[in-house]
Amino acid sequence: MIGVFDSGLGGLTGLKELVKRLPNEDFIYFGDTGRVPYGTKSTEIIKKYSHEDLNFLLSFGVDAVLVACGTVSSTALTELRSVTDKPIYGVITPTVEAALKKTKNGKIGVLGTSATIKSGAFERGIHERCPSAFVRSVACPLFVPLVENGFAAPGDEITLAAVRRYLQPLIDDGVDTLVLGCTHYPIISWAISEVMPNVTLISSGEAAADALADDILSGKVSSSGGNGIVKCYCSDVPSDFEATAAIFMGDVRIGHAEMIDIESYAV
Ligand code: DGL
Repeated sequence: MIGVFDSGLGGLTGLKELVKRLPNEDFIYFGDTGRVPYGTKSTEIIKKYSHEDLNFLLSFGVDAVLVACGTVSSTALTELRSVTDKPIYGVITPTVEAALKKTKNGKIGVLGTSATIKSGAFERGIHERCPSAFVRSVACPLFVPLVENGFAAPGDEITLAAVRRYLQPLIDDGVDTLVLGCTHYPIISWAISEVMPNVTLISSGEAAADALADDILSGKVSSSGGNGIVKCYCSDVPSDFEATAAIFMGDVRIGHAEMIDIESYAV
């Protein structure tokens, strides 16, 4: 059984990929919908929340955890790894590796939440592997609220206007590869591709899910398997979760979500 969590619904972009790659596995997903967004909060709060999220998943005896959140991966991953010997996968390394494989001109753009961009984690990861790469990082604090509040349908003028504003520096720099460093952003990739049509988009949720799936399929990470059951939990009323989750999951069906008291999982 694999646990996946995010501050909200964005991690479903990673869950969707995992379900496709590992159809016989069981999954527990937690979206902290009562406390989203994390990306505008302090490092201390992000660490506190993510420890609770991890504790909740560990209470099921999961075999591995995917931190399907760029914000948590860039600020709290080392600490989360220190509290358990279960494998904890984050989005930074797999996303950076995927971006470096794709770029042809060595110019990479990174989009993320304010906390992610402030951490410099993606930029560091790219430069550790390729010191000569050009990296332009842009915080896009409006994207998560737009997605969580349902402004994600193709053609939405408000989302397009926000995307145009945030992407202008990356157009000016001529980046050929764009890291979607927040797992919510692939839901508005239609708008990003409209504004920057010739750029390769890297979904951080998908890249991380692929890294974990590869390691399970090769036996590097062991898992007890399951029956292809996906159970979702959230920390606010589940009706909103279910409606928006359907947009994220597309043809992958998930059951009803259940609301839990995440604060009761405090360390
Ligand atoms: N999906 C989260 C991420 O990848 C969204 C962060 C937030 O809650 O602001 O960063």
